Amino acid sequence: MRRITDRLGGLAFGGDYNPEQWDQQVWKEDDLLMRQAGVNLATVGVFSWALLEPEEGRYDFGWLDAHLDRLHANGVAVDLATPTASPPPWFTLAHPDAMPVTPDGTRLVHGSRDTYCLAAPAYREAARRIAAALAERYGTHPALALWHVHNEYATVCWCDHTAAAFRDWLRDRHGSLEALNSAWGTAFWSQHYGAWEQVLPPRATQWHRNPGQALDFRRFWSDLALSAYREQRDAIRAHSDLPVTTNLMLPGYQNLDLWAFGREVDVVAIDHYPDAPGRGAAADTAFGADRARSFGGGRPWLLMEQGTSTVYSGDRTLGKEPGEILRHSLGHVARGSEGALFFQWRQSRAGAEQWHSAMVPHAGADSRIFREVSAVGAAVGRLGELAGSTVSAQVAVVHDADAWWALDVEGLPTTELDYHATLRGAHRALWDAGVTVDFAHPEQDLAGYRLVVAPALFLLSDAGAAGLRRYVEGGGTLLVQHAAGYVDERMQARLGGYPAAPLREALGIRVEEYRPLGRGERVTLSDGSHATAWSEALRLEGAEQLAAYTGGMLAGSPALTRNSLGAGQGWYLSTRLDDADYAALVGRLLDEVGVGPELPGLPSEVEAVRRQAPDGRRWHILLNHGDTAVPLPEPADDLLTGGRLDTLAAGGCAVLREVDR
Ligand code: GAL
Repeated sequence: MRRITDRLGGLAFGGDYNPEQWDQQVWKEDDLLMRQAGVNLATVGVFSWALLEPEEGRYDFGWLDAHLDRLHANGVAVDLATPTASPPPWFTLAHPDAMPVTPDGTRLVHGSRDTYCLAAPAYREAARRIAAALAERYGTHPALALWHVHNEYATVCWCDHTAAAFRDWLRDRHGSLEALNSAWGTAFWSQHYGAWEQVLPPRATQWHRNPGQALDFRRFWSDLALSAYREQRDAIRAHSDLPVTTNLMLPGYQNLDLWAFGREVDVVAIDHYPDAPGRGAAADTAFGADRARSFGGGRPWLLMEQGTSTVYSGDRTLGKEPGEILRHSLGHVARGSEGALFFQWRQSRAGAEQWHSAMVPHAGADSRIFREVSAVGAAVGRLGELAGSTVSAQVAVVHDADAWWALDVEGLPTTELDYHATLRGAHRALWDAGVTVDFAHPEQDLAGYRLVVAPALFLLSDAGAAGLRRYVEGGGTLLVQHAAGYVDERMQARLGGYPAAPLREALGIRVEEYRPLGRGERVTLSDGSHATAWSEALRLEGAEQLAAYTGGMLAGSPALTRNSLGAGQGWYLSTRLDDADYAALVGRLLDEVGVGPELPGLPSEVEAVRRQAPDGRRWHILLNHGDTAVPLPEPADDLLTGGRLDTLAAGGCAVLREVDR
């Protein structure tokens, strides 16, 4: 299969292009401005179902032919989307049963987007049909570089089609109704199921829903979305040998196991929208990019969408500061993206996203935003030699969708165990320390990492617990954080003390009692650090105590421990440290394992990441998030300016060729 960068002759630059919103005069200007900005890839057709199939079974491809031909003539390749994220009104009216139903039984209607049920046969059939029709018509079109299935699989539904599909999935997973009753613990609260027809998706209930049912439903929905993706992908592959992907969204917006999607897409593609500018957005960019790379097993991946401003954060959209569009774009490229794409090319004049940012804003090309966008295009255009190079890391943060979903059930001891916030906290401390991070699944081979951090592994499978123990025994250093390994893969509590047994041996501890802290309560540990949210009574079973609680019932009892097993070390932190104290702990661990910043000698405002080509060529990508110029440790050739660089400007970026000596 051809790589997109081979087809493009370099990295990708461009974005979603929805020309159906405009007229011929604007299309002419688009051609000109795309050339000016260095656009070489446009994502077309994402929301075009109503125009492509104005009535059921009647296609109108003429308008799309014209746009693809025009783009091709203008030197812009096409990422052609299947429009299945937004079925047209005729579809709703013909198939009301394919509209999604919320947990409380409300059936939604058209008028927005993403209104469909992935379990409804009529929707699946219509989606497969339009994907196949597009592939048949455009499979060999010279403009095409990539296929983009759907858009951000996100809608979840609780209708009767869903109930039927859920039961089939449960039959496969559990084998028998008896096994399901046992897994979900239905002996309690009189929930015992006597027939499959009695089993429902977790719809609105009087009080807490069954946690095993809630977890299985999340897994089921992710598998259903993956099967919907595969169905379209396979329909496309029958007519085209170009790579196929779907755009994934980070981190909690989609109910998807992104490891599973990473295995099925030809190239991982993500959309990434920080909700506030500044240093937090830079850290968030690295978080999203490191996840994208990891979900693809380290393969090059693609930033499919970003904004020229941030997106809605609760009640407002905040603008990016001058220079941030370039830093965010190169922040993704630094961590393995094969380009930088945006949503969308031209800001809509009307419609639901008329205030969403774009590459060409309402003000037109004579604007700061378009000038910055063009500068990004020029920068990306100079980085062609990076194509196909990858990023490697010596530190991993453990990520597992099961653990995320397990922390989303009702009835946990506290609502302060936020999966993604905890993961972000771990990644942020490592990012602040200048260290490149992979994400890793608890059941994968971790032996290549010097340090593994497991921040929120509330659910841990037997295989995961055994794998983590093996990692330590083989010489790894592992940090496990509070509330780990409390439940198994069925969502059943581990008995006899937490975490799961083989991991307990690696950590040399046994957690006997969990004690969530009160809202706002902050405890002091014997090493002077502070912590909130959670505490645990634990017993040492071979581990050494590094810090203890200092007050209340837990005074003198271990809070932070270290254990040796085989050639490695297992650390356990039984509470949530304040950010600065957590950063100090992470710094201590990095010192112990001898991992330092990617490029030593730079101040903490400068982010540095290294990409390496299969033939050994290497580049350092530097992003200065600070507002003062920074002298480089030594002068180097910079791809962005084409010259020798000895100082990185305030807010500036550089891509330095590394030379062997
Ligand atoms: C993405 C989506 C785009 C657009 C964008 C706005 O999540 O794929 O269609 O809505 O968000 O930020």
